[in-house]
Amino acid sequence: MPHSGEAAVFQSAVILGSGLGAAGEMALNLGGIAIDFDQIPHLPCPAVRGHAGRLIIGTGELAGTLLLQGRVHLYEGHSLERATFVIRVLQQLGVQNLLVTNAAGGISDAFRVGDLMLLNGHWTFLNVHQPSNQSRKGPSTKLWSERFRHVARSVDSSLVVHEGVYAMMSGPNYETPAEVQMLKTLGVDAVGMSTVPESLAAVAAGMEVLGVSCITNLACGLTDHPLNHCEVSRAAAEVETEFARWLFNVLSRLRF
Ligand code: HPA
Repeated sequence: MPHSGEAAVFQSAVILGSGLGAAGEMALNLGGIAIDFDQIPHLPCPAVRGHAGRLIIGTGELAGTLLLQGRVHLYEGHSLERATFVIRVLQQLGVQNLLVTNAAGGISDAFRVGDLMLLNGHWTFLNVHQPSNQSRKGPSTKLWSERFRHVARSVDSSLVVHEGVYAMMSGPNYETPAEVQMLKTLGVDAVGMSTVPESLAAVAAGMEVLGVSCITNLACGLTDHPLNHCEVSRAAAEVETEFARWLFNVLSRLRF
């Protein structure tokens, strides 16, 4: 951890979700340095397609930023401690600002494929709280930084940026149409299988967090064709370059 008064070497980090790794490639083209997750002691490696499993150290306009291409999910069989280990690594490196991104299914009628949603609330049935946190105070109501959302909304982009509530389901299967109807009734705007555990761990570690969903599909049952991982990857590929530019602009505004 940096000593008080000393600037952190790595101020910001971005976790890049399914198929959203282009920001990592762009960071490498700008001179960034890649370290495979398996070179970092104890860091679990992602097994899901679309998650490269690399830590990229940003340089130039991305100096002070770490980009993580990929994450592990609870549904891969990892414990909560292992799935959030990366947050403790980032904490030791001095990271204060965390952007957590994911691919998600859109539930809100206002959402179209390729839109972004800034998380302003979340919902899950899963136990995503660290056993070491026995205070039973419940998660902070300020989990999703209002300040960061304000910054993110101020960035010009061709992408449509909404705000809404994210539901984390267990996966690895997509939801049934009945589950999606239930989530819609509960006021959920987008559904995915990640983001909440890392974000809770990050806030507990004193970081400020922006959660961003890229809507890669309409959730199951909201269209008449069955959903599969290829559709999610294809939709992510179509927006990932513009998404990366948007992310870099958000990062540059968070620095000042
Ligand atoms: N459901 C859950 N996770 C997802 C989805 C979805 O529809 N799309 C991308 N990740």
